[in-house]
Amino acid sequence: MVTIRIAIGEQRDASYDIMVGRGILQDIGSLVPSACRAARYAVISDATVAALYGAGVLARFADASLSAELFEFPPGEDQKTRATWSMLSDRMLARNFGRDAAVIALGGGVVGDVAGFVAATYLRGIPYVQIPTTLLAMLDSSIGGKTGVDVPAGKNLIGAFHQPRLVVADLDVLGSLPAAQLVAGLAEAVKHGVIADREYFEFLEQAHDDVRARTAKPLEHAVTRSIEIKSEIVAQDERESGRRAILNFGHTVAHAIEANANFSLLHGEAVAMGMVHEARLAEMLGIAPRGTAQRVRALVAQCGLPLERPRESSIDDLLRIMQLDKKARAGSVRFALPRAIGAMQGNAETGWTVTAPEAAIRASLALD
Ligand SMILES: NC(=O)c1ccc[n+]([C@@H]2O[C@H](COP(=O)([O-])OP(=O)(O)OC[C@H]3O[C@@H](n4cnc5c(N)ncnc54)[C@H](O)[C@@H]3O)[C@@H](O)[C@H]2O)c1
Ligand SMILES: [Zn+2]
Repeated sequence: MVTIRIAIGEQRDASYDIMVGRGILQDIGSLVPSACRAARYAVISDATVAALYGAGVLARFADASLSAELFEFPPGEDQKTRATWSMLSDRMLARNFGRDAAVIALGGGVVGDVAGFVAATYLRGIPYVQIPTTLLAMLDSSIGGKTGVDVPAGKNLIGAFHQPRLVVADLDVLGSLPAAQLVAGLAEAVKHGVIADREYFEFLEQAHDDVRARTAKPLEHAVTRSIEIKSEIVAQDERESGRRAILNFGHTVAHAIEANANFSLLHGEAVAMGMVHEARLAEMLGIAPRGTAQRVRALVAQCGLPLERPRESSIDDLLRIMQLDKKARAGSVRFALPRAIGAMQGNAETGWTVTAPEAAIRASLALD
């Protein structure tokens, strides 16, 4: 088992452990109470994950004489809503969960975001633990404390920063994850390489097939290296006032593509497309040297991810959505762009995002 400790906040006063290993879900009866002691645990999961792992998790709590109850909702991005948040909160209230309770988020990013938001707001906030069960949740969404729900106006627009007390990533649960979901998670791993670590990007260029085949060592390396990169960035900038923005590489375009496709794409697929277009934009603006975009595109292709925006999404529509995005300022769209593989444009003074002329954005969105 590998443990990565993340220290958050100005004083680095809050810290928690991210544990990565095989079979460690068997140990949650001891891991959870030592990091997050509570009188009762509300285990929140979606129906798919609950059917696979819910009973096992409850049994480990029972073995350790801990009180735990399962609360589930249907799977899918379209369930990441205020309605799900209020249904879960109301059911916990009806079961008399008090301030001495804690939430266990057992599932992918959807479960982690909703359950985290329930924990952030329940009786003004109770602690929670993340047990991510998708690759994307393990190497990205379970870390950093962003919680929330989607609303008609856009993704993740209502939410809170609320850091978990512990993250337990058991690689064994990836055995049941559908291949398309595994591949979608790889998109965020590629992103981590581009934004912060050229060697890691090169590792993925070599090992993408092994990671996709879930070979133990390469898969473990991808999860732990991505977690280290994300933790390091988040620790410096918990609330995204500065460098944390580099995690949005690929995401300005991705969020527009997702919204335009009515969230019918997987998040990782949209991120893959977004990285290809935004890397091209970085070259067009003279920020990244020639060849950078092609290298990103080649790795995205090798991972089995889609390469460009869906044909049905028009450039006009995508631009309009980007101009409305919460990260846009006064209608001008901002991007986090690489200046090379492994390094992002920007610094503490200028900030970590750049605006781009509309003509360049349009050109970068042209289909091949
Ligand atoms: N909070 C953050 O910082 C952050 C970062 C990135 C993404 N996100 C969010 O994460 C969400 C996407 O997360 P996701 O890709 O994990 O999607 P998801 O939670 O919808 O999970 C994908 C599907 O896989 C199923 N599943 C999960 N684990 C499984 C397993 N072990 N075996 C079999 N099936 C399993 C789920 O039931 C679901 O149908 C998006 O809403 C995105 O906005 C949040
Ligand atoms: Zn993402």
